[in-house]
Amino acid sequence: MRTSALLWPVLLAQNALAITVDTTSAASIKSAASTVAHGLMSFYNGNDTGEVPGLLPQPYFWWEAGGMFMTMIDYWSRTGDASYNDLISQALLFQVGTQQDFMPVNQTKDEGNDDQGFWAMAAMLAAETNFQNPPPDQPQWLALAQAVFNEMASRWDTTTCGGGLRWQIFQLNNGFTYKNSIANGCFFNLGARLARYTGNDTYAQWAEKIWDWEQAIGLIDSSYNIYDGSSDTDNCTEITRLQWTYNAGIYLHGAANMFNYTKGDPTWQARTAGLLKASDIFFTNNMMQEQACESVGTCDTDQLSFKAYFSAWLAQTTVLAPFTYPSIAPLLSASAIGAGQACSGGNQGTTCGFKWTTGTYDGTTGVGQQMSALGAINAAMVQVPQEKVVVPVTNSTGGTSIGNNAAGVTAPMLGLMVDNTGPVETRDKVAAGFLTFAVVSSVIGGSVFMALES
Ligand SMILES: *[C@@H]1O[C@H](CO)[C@@H](O)[C@H](O)[C@H]1NC(C)=O
Ligand SMILES: *[C@@H]1O[C@H](CO)[C@@H](O)[C@H](O)[C@H]1NC(C)=O
Ligand SMILES: *[C@@H]1O[C@H](CO)[C@@H](O)[C@H](O)[C@H]1NC(C)=O
Ligand SMILES: *[C@@H]1O[C@H](CO)[C@@H](O)[C@H](O)[C@H]1NC(C)=O
Ligand SMILES: *[C@@H]1O[C@H](CO)[C@@H](O)[C@H](O)[C@H]1NC(C)=O
Ligand SMILES: *[C@@H]1O[C@H](CO)[C@@H](O)[C@H](O)[C@H]1NC(C)=O
Repeated sequence: MRTSALLWPVLLAQNALAITVDTTSAASIKSAASTVAHGLMSFYNGNDTGEVPGLLPQPYFWWEAGGMFMTMIDYWSRTGDASYNDLISQALLFQVGTQQDFMPVNQTKDEGNDDQGFWAMAAMLAAETNFQNPPPDQPQWLALAQAVFNEMASRWDTTTCGGGLRWQIFQLNNGFTYKNSIANGCFFNLGARLARYTGNDTYAQWAEKIWDWEQAIGLIDSSYNIYDGSSDTDNCTEITRLQWTYNAGIYLHGAANMFNYTKGDPTWQARTAGLLKASDIFFTNNMMQEQACESVGTCDTDQLSFKAYFSAWLAQTTVLAPFTYPSIAPLLSASAIGAGQACSGGNQGTTCGFKWTTGTYDGTTGVGQQMSALGAINAAMVQVPQEKVVVPVTNSTGGTSIGNNAAGVTAPMLGLMVDNTGPVETRDKVAAGFLTFAVVSSVIGGSVFMALES
């Protein structure tokens, strides 16, 4: 890009203060995304000698690395910058585990359905974007997503609450009695996307079933608000009414896939539109905000990354359900500009903070902050006038990833595979941590008080 001499002093000055995002210019967005992506990958050293590919250092949990590689695939697909692709591929393949299902033995002891789901959604995105396929002797992206889907289907639990997935996979873990929207959302999202990608209606039938269950229990209400979860010890009669961006996004994107898969079914259109309308609560002046914790400063390590995924899913929704474009485009534009302004910390003046509505760096730094900003800036590509939209491929529109309907193992076999007898760690997972519930809900005046940790 050429810049006139007159503009140089201005650009230099801004460079030191923030990342300026001109959301009408693909070149500006790509340049901003490149800076933020570089900052994000500087937290990752899994490709260094002696380190474990796929893992982030403390305090970042395993699932968040899956979310990060998903965001990096999105970065490549929207900008064309392939410099991190080998590293992304190495990380994803290193964490597949011996059963090729994203249950590596180091993680299985406290792996939840949502943890596994985030890695699977990264693989699904790789298939949908024709990300470089693994060597033939390695598991393939589509088959990995199918493996996780099949395992989730085998864990569908009708013993309580009329169905649903539990948050946790294993009985001894905290949260096994909690049936939550993110675990079921990963399953729903994968089902809808696999239906669209493969054309196999079995996946769509599961997506319908999961949606119906979420509504029946009240985790999705009549106005399409999505709540965190419910305990099966009272048969899911009490709902934890916290709302998170990633839940809104995961269902919105799944619904948009169903809308597209069904070639415009009015029911899925209404659901997509309803979820989008309910997402108003996550925007202030069109800028995205994690309303349950951001303004009060209580977002935990996990929650700081949720806006990354919501951004990516909103962008995809405009492509799969084009009727949403006029409502979503201004949100993506304002959020990318705000995120850029919040990227004004550190020595270079480009380290990203978390709050996009303030026009400035908030003094906090981390993988979540950096990833959320990258998600927002990547997403803004879909609203650039004249820019060719990247449509996710399917098996019949150029997708090259090789699948396997029968991938994955069934629930009883899984139980035998892991040593689940050791002491149970009390640690946070992808789901919004239980320990923060009391704090957050007292701040926002909710009625929820959960004391599930003992
Ligand atoms: C790890 O990846 C980063 C970013 O691509 C790169 O700069 C670095 O050289 C890589 N390290 C090794 C040991 O390959
Ligand atoms: C599991 O942990 C061991 C010990 O830290 C490490 O050598 C190995 O690479 C890890 N495997 C995975 C898949 O993370
Ligand atoms: C638990 O909830 C499900 C779904 O709402 C219902 O079908 C079932 O009868 C309930 N079980 C009990 C014991 O109340
Ligand atoms: C499905 O997505 C494609 C690709 O963006 C789009 O052209 C098509 O109009 C969508 N289908 C419907 C029913 O909106
Ligand atoms: C994609 O479809 C083709 C023919 O329609 C089929 O031969 C191939 O096995 C399918 N691939 C996958 C991954 O399902
Ligand atoms: C569709 O997917 C289901 C679930 O994986 C599988 O059992 C079935 O064989 C598939 N059908 C076709 C026609 O591929």
